[in-house]
This record gives sequence, C-alpha cells and structure tokens, in this order.
Amino acid sequence: MKLNRDRFGKDEDYGKVIPEDEAFELLNDWVKNEKLIAHMKQVAHLMAAFAETKGLSESDQYRWYLAGLLHDADWEKWPESHCRLIIEELESRGVDPEIIRAIASHGPKYFGVEPKSDMDKMLYAFDELSGLIHAYSLMRPEGYVGMNVKGVKKRLKDKSFAAQVSREDISDAANRAGISLDELIQFVVINQIDTRDKFLL
Ligand SMILES: [Fe+2]
Ligand SMILES: [Fe+2]
Repeated sequence: MKLNRDRFGKDEDYGKVIPEDEAFELLNDWVKNEKLIAHMKQVAHLMAAFAETKGLSESDQYRWYLAGLLHDADWEKWPESHCRLIIEELESRGVDPEIIRAIASHGPKYFGVEPKSDMDKMLYAFDELSGLIHAYSLMRPEGYVGMNVKGVKKRLKDKSFAAQVSREDISDAANRAGISLDELIQFVVINQIDTRDKFLL
C-alpha cells in the first residue's frame, strides 16, 4: 500500500531505539511464520554487517540492525497494510525517525517512499536479493558453502527460480545504492547467517 507521507517519527526521537528483547517480543507477538522471522533476521544481520564495514559506531550498527529486523513485522498479519502498521507501532514507541524511514522506503514502488539515506538504500538492496540467495542456499546440499556470484546470477536470470522475488527491484536497488550487483551478491554470500540456525532450516 502507498503510505502517502514522507515524514516519519518525531524529531525528538532521533537516536532512540528499543532493546533487542523488546524487538523480538514484538516479532513473537506479530509473526508466527518462522521463515519470515528468518528473513528479517538475515536482513538485520546484513544491515549490521554493512554498517560495520562502513565504519559506523556500534550504536549505528544497532540502528541498521533494527531496521532490518522489523521491516516486515506486519506483513503476515496485515499484508494489506504492510508496512504502515509497523511504522505506526514504532512511532508510538518513540523509535528513531531514521529507522522508521528506512522501513517505509524498503519498497519504493509499493509504498511510494524514496530511499534517501544509506540505511534506506541498503535495506531496499538487501531485502529481495537476500531472499533469492537464501532460497538458492536451500537447494544447494552445501548451503552457502562454496556459493559464488556466478551461481547466484544464474538463479537471478532464471525467472522461474524463486519467482516471487522481483528482479526489477533487485537491480533498481543496486543502482540506487551505487553498488554493483556482483559486489552486493558477494557481500550477502560472505555475510550469511549461520545456516544451522533453527529458523533457517
Ligand atoms: Fe516488505
Ligand atoms: Fe523483506
């Protein structure tokens, strides 16, 4: 759904976060589908890893992490209102406007909010791509081990593979982030979360 707004959160909440256990409590309340939880955890992990690579502080890494962890929290219960409800929930909890904006812009075509900051752009860039790469890891007996860019690109070209993943969004997001697709794929493959994690099986 289009959000029809471009300002999120309150100015006085800049830098404010919720602790990780509160974020997981919210996820446990709202999301039953373990695959969806796994998806958000994967994106959260990638966001934190990217922020770290950029040399951002630990508190910034955590802000990036939270954006990833909560970006689809309302998807299962209220798909028609995705992502308006998680935005409103985080606003009521006084979460940093930058985190909320990143969530609001993770699908510009769908929500009508343009990714502006690096956090916005990377959430958009990791979202669909990590889904496709994760699906690929599940069909490989060795999971992520030995996975390479070429193999991922082959799956990207094969439109019947993980057909729900929008190839258009993936290339649009890479363009906006100013990062080559190869580099992005490499980053996702290197920074995979432990595939033995129970959520990922
Ligand atoms: Fe989403
Ligand atoms: Fe997502």
